[in-house]
Amino acid sequence: MFNNNQIFTAPLAGITDKPFRQVIRMFAPDVSMVTEMISCHSLVGAHKNCIRNFDRYESEGNIGAQIFGAEPDLMGAAAKILQDAGAKWIDINMGCPVPKVATRAGAGAFLMKDHALAGRIIEACVKSVKIPVSIKTRLGWDEKHQDWMDLVHVAAESGASFVTLHGRTRAAGYVGPAQLPEISNLSLPIIANGDLSCVSDLERVEKLGYNGAMIGRAMLGKPWIFGQICGNCDAPKDIGDIVLKHLDFMIDYYGAKTAIPMFRKHAAWYSSGMPNSAQFRIKVNQISDEKELKQIIKEFFARG
Ligand SMILES: Cc1cc2nc3c(=O)[nH]c(=O)nc-3n(C[C@H](O)[C@H](O)[C@H](O)COP(=O)(O)O)c2cc1C
Repeated sequence: MFNNNQIFTAPLAGITDKPFRQVIRMFAPDVSMVTEMISCHSLVGAHKNCIRNFDRYESEGNIGAQIFGAEPDLMGAAAKILQDAGAKWIDINMGCPVPKVATRAGAGAFLMKDHALAGRIIEACVKSVKIPVSIKTRLGWDEKHQDWMDLVHVAAESGASFVTLHGRTRAAGYVGPAQLPEISNLSLPIIANGDLSCVSDLERVEKLGYNGAMIGRAMLGKPWIFGQICGNCDAPKDIGDIVLKHLDFMIDYYGAKTAIPMFRKHAAWYSSGMPNSAQFRIKVNQISDEKELKQIIKEFFARG
């Protein structure tokens, strides 16, 4: 089985922010984590409306910061900013299928179509930092163009240290089961990603030749799964305390006015499958007062 630092939390935009990562760290102090993707433009421009641009990572353990963009110089500058903020490595997004990123910005998944540009971006990042640089990509643009191995070679030649492979194409989005190919004779370590959620999944991808595993959606509403996988804890009996802690972390980070609406999706994930969760969600979606929200959470999870 993988060591704990070979187990990664996936970057999930709008979800794996600093407060969520704090919750995961309560259960799994030594798994590897990746931030949500951060725009190189927004970082280099120090855009004040994006709080993530000012995160510090020193106290977050083994954490890589993920950037996206299409301009090598800007990506290099962004990588340097994140290194200086305490990131342990830089991850370059080469898999995001969202049109705003992959089509309009020529970044994310678009780089699977332009390996020369992908190589220049990796080189620029490698040159500007002393920490490792990785890429996160998919099988290819669509079913007919599954050329991820070529991109792995480009990444190796450009100085990247490892690659995360999500076992779907850009065209597949997040639909259908992930297909993780067997790995052999590749020049870089490959981290498996897609539909992984338990120890037996991790053992399966280890047998396929992967050097680590990254877990995304399986952690929604269950941040403790990393503790379970690492053998640190069982599923908690009282999740109300965890939910309240998560809310407090969000309020500390964003302020109550912003945090409360952002927290609603987490409340839905935490309560999913529990009796009366639909009514709970409806109530939570109507509340903007911190005290009232905490009371509703306490009552709901005490009953569950
Ligand atoms: C809501 C959401 C946000 C995501 N944000 C990012 C991101 O910021 N960067 C990235 O590389 N991948 C992102 N992904 C892709 C995930 O990191 C991961 O590759 C994908 O969900 C497959 O893994 P899973 O089946 O374990 O969830 C996102 C996926 C989802 C569903």
